[in-house]
Amino acid sequence: MVTTPKFVMKRHAGPKSYENIMTKFLTRRKCSINESNIWLRHPRRRFASRPPLGRPRAATFNSAATHDILLRYVQLPPKLARLSAENWLKGNRMDTILFNTDDTAEVPPPVTGTQRDARKVKISPDHWYPVAWSHEVKAGKTRAVKFAGDPVVLVRPKQGAVFALENRCAHRQVPLDAGVVSGCAIRCHYHGWTYDASGACTDVPYLGKGKLPNGVKSYPCREEAGLIFIFPGDPAKAADSFPNLSAASDSNYKTRRFGREVACHYSFMHENLMDMNHQFMHRKQMGQVRPRYLGRRLGDTWLEVQYTFARTGGKQPLGETAIFGGKRTPDVNDRDVMTIRTEYPYQTLRILPAGGDAPVMDLWIVYVPLDAAQKTIRTFGLLSIHKPKSTLGRAGLNIGWPFLILFTERIFKEDRWIVEAEQAAHDAQGANWNQEVFPVIRELTGLLARCGVVRE
Ligand code: FES
Ligand SMILES: [Fe+2]
Repeated sequence: MVTTPKFVMKRHAGPKSYENIMTKFLTRRKCSINESNIWLRHPRRRFASRPPLGRPRAATFNSAATHDILLRYVQLPPKLARLSAENWLKGNRMDTILFNTDDTAEVPPPVTGTQRDARKVKISPDHWYPVAWSHEVKAGKTRAVKFAGDPVVLVRPKQGAVFALENRCAHRQVPLDAGVVSGCAIRCHYHGWTYDASGACTDVPYLGKGKLPNGVKSYPCREEAGLIFIFPGDPAKAADSFPNLSAASDSNYKTRRFGREVACHYSFMHENLMDMNHQFMHRKQMGQVRPRYLGRRLGDTWLEVQYTFARTGGKQPLGETAIFGGKRTPDVNDRDVMTIRTEYPYQTLRILPAGGDAPVMDLWIVYVPLDAAQKTIRTFGLLSIHKPKSTLGRAGLNIGWPFLILFTERIFKEDRWIVEAEQAAHDAQGANWNQEVFPVIRELTGLLARCGVVRE
């Protein structure tokens, strides 16, 4: 097991010889910026102006603590660690070590998932999945949805919480969504058998109460942030696993809810979002943007990657201006750090602007399989943009909002077309012929395969 480095170091100034020693050492140990999460801020290089990973706690350490950290985590030889610690802290330099609060996971052994064809792996049912937007299920009405081929009916009583049952009547297997919402129950359209939120049959109009037949399966169901979630797997696992949707319910953010059906396996969507090397495809929408890969962190069920972007040509699109609340100049935009995380089965994308405290953009998205073959998904996305503090800034965001929608729709359309083309190629070839050269994507595909369920 290799432990992920647990900290970010930030140096504002220092003796040249010390810089050289550290740089050489880190290079030799392959602790380069691409291979680990060790960050040395060099005065002449533009690394992130603030620690990019997680939300840091900052503390200034004495030389003993620094020494200990260099020994334990950077694994410097003892003598060099002592010298470094002393050098580092000499004088009144603002030398700070910044810890990441959530960087505790260990890198699992080499991914075996690559031996499985990730496109043939089913999504794990033991998670909460949105199956509809809240507004799609009106009070006193039902809605038929699908999860991985399983028919589900959502029922919203006139009073009370929405609930989810398998969408078939126990009597003649006809869909329950054609029925009538009656109090906190659903009455089948055909002979009027009635089921409550737990799926129990509570009434058969032409039978005595003592002779009621078995009911139907019910799903744990929750409504959050404008989405209706079900838990299709083992209900015993439902209690503690709800995703964090905090930005969407934070009044400091303006949230766009979006989603479409896409004819591909969910793994293509995860890869598409995480692999920013595909900006080439968006050249018409984005202008010329060069992503720079900063590093990645990996746990058993998650993978996080970070990038900065440099604009090498073309104008900043209006949609992007709306996200940032203004124009990004070249000296600033390559220090905005984008973090993309697959936290199985969800994905997030956050942009922390150079010099900012909170993400300027926070996207949460999930790809929910609709059919049994899991070659069609419905995306549910919550795109939250931080509201500027000033009234004028907020007005600007509202004015820019339609451009942002247009911008994200165009990007999504391009992504959708390409992932559907990937699925079509996989279908035609019947196997994975891909030559993936970006280690992060190999790890991601392995992670998805590992966390999913192999088809029989
Ligand atoms: S089929 Fe539903 S009540 Fe008969
Ligand atoms: Fe894209």
